[in-house]
This record gives sequence, C-alpha cells and structure tokens, in this order.
Amino acid sequence: MAYGLLNGKRGIISGALNEQSIAWKVALKAKEEGASFVLTNAPIAMRMGEINRLAEQCSAEIIPADATSVEDLEKLFTQSQEVLGGKIDFVLHSIGMSPNIRKGRAYTDLNYEWFKQSLDVSAMSLHKMLQVAYKQDAIAEWGSVVALTYMAAQRTFPFYTDMAEAKAMLESITRSFGYHYGKFRKVRVNTVSQSPTVTTAGSGIGGFDKFYGFADKIAPLGNASADQCADYCLTLFSDFTRMVTMQNLFHDGGFVSTGVSQEVMESL
Ligand code: NAI
Repeated sequence: MAYGLLNGKRGIISGALNEQSIAWKVALKAKEEGASFVLTNAPIAMRMGEINRLAEQCSAEIIPADATSVEDLEKLFTQSQEVLGGKIDFVLHSIGMSPNIRKGRAYTDLNYEWFKQSLDVSAMSLHKMLQVAYKQDAIAEWGSVVALTYMAAQRTFPFYTDMAEAKAMLESITRSFGYHYGKFRKVRVNTVSQSPTVTTAGSGIGGFDKFYGFADKIAPLGNASADQCADYCLTLFSDFTRMVTMQNLFHDGGFVSTGVSQEVMESL
C-alpha cells in the first residue's frame, strides 16, 4: 500500500545491481511513494545490464558514476538536477566492496592496496558524494542522505575483515558531515545498520549462510529483509523524520540488543 510519502521528491539512488540489491527495493518503493529519481552505479556494473529493467519500471534515467571518482560524482549531481528539474531531496548510498573479501584474504593477511580500495569504495565515497553535493549546493533544505552499514563497525565479526573498518569510517563520516550539512541546509545524514541480507555483496562474505541463520535465531523479530530495509529508508527520506540526523540506526530485528536467545541456547 502506498502512502504518497515521497510525493514530489527528487532523489539519487545508487547501488542497484540486481533484483536482490537493497537499492533495487528502495527504487521500486520510492517510485510507489511518488518520488522521481535517477539511478546510478559504477560503469562496470552497468555491463550486467539488469539496471535497465529497473530504470524502465521506474521511468528513471541512469547516470553511471564510479563513486570513487569526484569527477563522475560532479557530473552525477549536475545531471541529476537537470534531469529531475531541481535540487535533490534524498540520496541513497548503497555501495560496498572489499577486494580482500572478494579474494578470500583473512583479516590477519590483508593486502593493503586492496584495503585502501575497500575504504575508498565503501566509505570515502560517502564523503565524496556529500562534499560534491555541498559544493554544488545540490541538496534541497531538509533533504535526507542515507547510507547502508553493518554492525561489524561496533562489534567483531571475524569474517567481515576490512569491511568492518570501512563501515566504522562510513558511520563516522555520517556524524561529521551530518553536522556541517545540518548547519548549512538542514540536510540530515544517517546510516541504517541492516541485518545480514541475501544479496551479491552479502553472500560474498565468508560463512554468510551460517551467520544469516545464527542472526535470525538471535534477533527476537528475526532478520530484517531487503524489502523491510527499503521501507525504513523511505521513512528517513520522508518529512516525518526531519529531526533525525547523525545517527546510526539499527534495522536488525533486535539483534544488537540481544545477548543470547532461547533458540541458540537450545542448539548448543
Ligand atoms: P549489492 O551487491 O547488490 O550492492 C552493492 C553495490 O555497490 C553494487 O550495486 C555495486 O555495483 C556497487 N558498487 C561497488 N563498487 C562501486 C563503485 N566504485 N561505484 C559505485 N558503485 C559501486 O549488495 P547490497 O547488500 O544491496 O549492498 C548495499 C549496501 O548495503 C552495501 O553498503 C552493503 O555493505 C550494505 N549492507 C549489506 C548487508 C547484507 O548482508 N547484504 C548488511 C548490511 C549492510
């Protein structure tokens, strides 16, 4: 059921790779709620071509941008404002990638060049997006920026390797830039810390299946799905959350606050 939550709002949605992507669900629901937006992803991800189907469904233009390239991001924000006919009301940062995870390197055997790439793609890209938007004054007053993160920023999950540092940095940028953008244009910046979710990025993490099941048994509400995550993101883009900023918001069915559950105790 649609509520018209985003009627008349203009957005930029990054990170929709395929139907499983959290960003894909955000796009479909944002459309339903009345938003117009552009889709963006790394040029290399475009080659898969699936995003074209989403763009058609949402009547959205695609503007390719490597989120590590300031030049690409400058074009993204300029062109998005042209295409959408005004300043941007919401931005979804749904970008993560670790070469160390992809290539199966353990935390005690990291390749440091790849470590830098993990930080650049998964965390510094948020700073770059925000700085480009700030300099262009591209985000409207009371706009909202949401980035997706994972609890390994606070607690240790050994298989998450250098992405734990990337997420900690992402959440820190959220607080730091949230201050500056709040002062400048009352723009809010938050992270949503999502349950393990079956997507290309999620499933790439070692031991994901087992961990998915474990988290589901710990959380009193069970794991939050990608669809539910999208619903939550939309509330943060809406006018109902105008005073929420610089926060890391757990969307995890209660996992982070639960020490142990009955189900896990009984399985030992
Ligand atoms: P996904 O694999 O569908 O999305 C990741 C996206 O990042 C892809 O669309 C990919 O093309 C994009 N990307 C990679 N490098 C890029 C670059 N240089 N420039 C622009 N885009 C680039 O997976 P998912 O799960 O939807 O990931 C979205 C976000 O959610 C990520 O930040 C991820 O860390 C986060 N997250 C995922 C969880 C999970 O279990 N799947 C749990 C908590 C957070």
